[in-house]
Amino acid sequence: MLAKIEELLQEVGAMTAANAEELEALRIKYLSKKGAINALMADFRNVPAEQKKEVGMKLNELKNLAQERINALKETFENQDNGAAELDLTRTAYPIELGTRHPLSIVRNEIIDIFSRLGFTIAEGPEVEDDWHVFSSMNFPEDHPARDMQDTFFIESHPDILLRTHTSSVQSRVMEVSQPPIRVICPGRVYRNEAISYRAHCFFHQVEGLYVDKNVSFTDLKQVLLQFAQEMFGPETKIRLRPSYFPFTEPSAEMDISCDICGGEGCPFCKYTGWVEILGCGMVDPAVLEANGIDSKIYTGYAFGMGVERITNLKYKVKDLRMFSENDTRFLEEFEAAN
Ligand code: DAH
Repeated sequence: MLAKIEELLQEVGAMTAANAEELEALRIKYLSKKGAINALMADFRNVPAEQKKEVGMKLNELKNLAQERINALKETFENQDNGAAELDLTRTAYPIELGTRHPLSIVRNEIIDIFSRLGFTIAEGPEVEDDWHVFSSMNFPEDHPARDMQDTFFIESHPDILLRTHTSSVQSRVMEVSQPPIRVICPGRVYRNEAISYRAHCFFHQVEGLYVDKNVSFTDLKQVLLQFAQEMFGPETKIRLRPSYFPFTEPSAEMDISCDICGGEGCPFCKYTGWVEILGCGMVDPAVLEANGIDSKIYTGYAFGMGVERITNLKYKVKDLRMFSENDTRFLEEFEAAN
C-alpha cells in the first residue's frame, strides 16, 4: 500500500492540465468518490495495526497534495479567464458591506409580530404633540408631576406643544377618530428630560397596546400579556401583576416576568427577587373613554405600555442604554445573526 501511495504522490506532484476539462478529469480520477484516493482509504482498514499510523499519514499527505495541486491549477485557469474577459464597467469598485438591523428594531418588530398574530393592528402618532393628547385626554390632573418641566420637553414659545413622554397619546389619537372595536398597538419614540446615564436616556422607545370593545375584562388583558411574555421570552415564562397607579387606567398594574437569567432563583439582575418588571397596564379609565368620545356605559377596554429598550436589555443583556444610540458598528454587528 505504501508503494502505491508513493507512486500516486509522484503522479499527483507532476500533474498538469491544459484546460478546465482536463482538470476536471484529474479531479475525478483522484479526488472523487470513486477516485484513486478514496479507493486507498477504503483499503485502509486492511492495513496491519502497526503500520496504520505511517500509512495514515502518507495517505493524508497524498490527499492534501492532490487537493492543493488541483486548486492551484484551477486558479491559473481562472486568472487566465479574467484576463481574457471584457472589462465590466458596471462592477462597483469596493465590495458593499450589508448593514444589520438595529437591535431595537429587531425587538420592536418581534413585539409587533406577536401582537399582529393576536389581531392587533399598528397605529402611529406624532412625536411632537400637544398637551391634550399626551396629558389631558389621558386623565392627568392639572398638577400632575409628569407635566412638570423636569420630565417633559416643552417647546419654549408654545407651552402647549411638547415632545411626547409616552405613546399613550396615540391611544387618544386612535379613539378620537374611531369607534370600538378598537385593537391597536402603537410603537414609537418618546422623550423625557432625564440626565443621560447607562440606565436612562432623554429618548427611548415604547409599544403601547389598546383594546376597547363590549365586555373587555381584566382577564382578557392578563391572557394576552401571558401569551406575549411566553412568545417573547419562552414558554416557561411566568408573569405576575402588581397593583400600581396610572392616571389613565383603573385598576392599574405593573407586570413582572420570571427572571430569564436565573430562571426565578434570584440573581443580581433581578435583585434576588426572581422577577423583573417589563410593562404597565390596566383597564382604561372610563374618564379616558369619555374624553375621547367613547361611551363608557357601553364599552370597556384595557391598555398596556412597555419600553422596547427594557425588553431588548432582557433579551440581549445590553448593560449600557447609551449603546443603542451611539451607532458603534462593533456593537451593531453583534446582531447580524438576529436579523
Ligand atoms: N404610559 C406609561 C409610561 O410611559 C406606560 C403605560 C402604563 C401605558 C399603563 C399604558 C398603561 O397604556 O395602561 O410609563
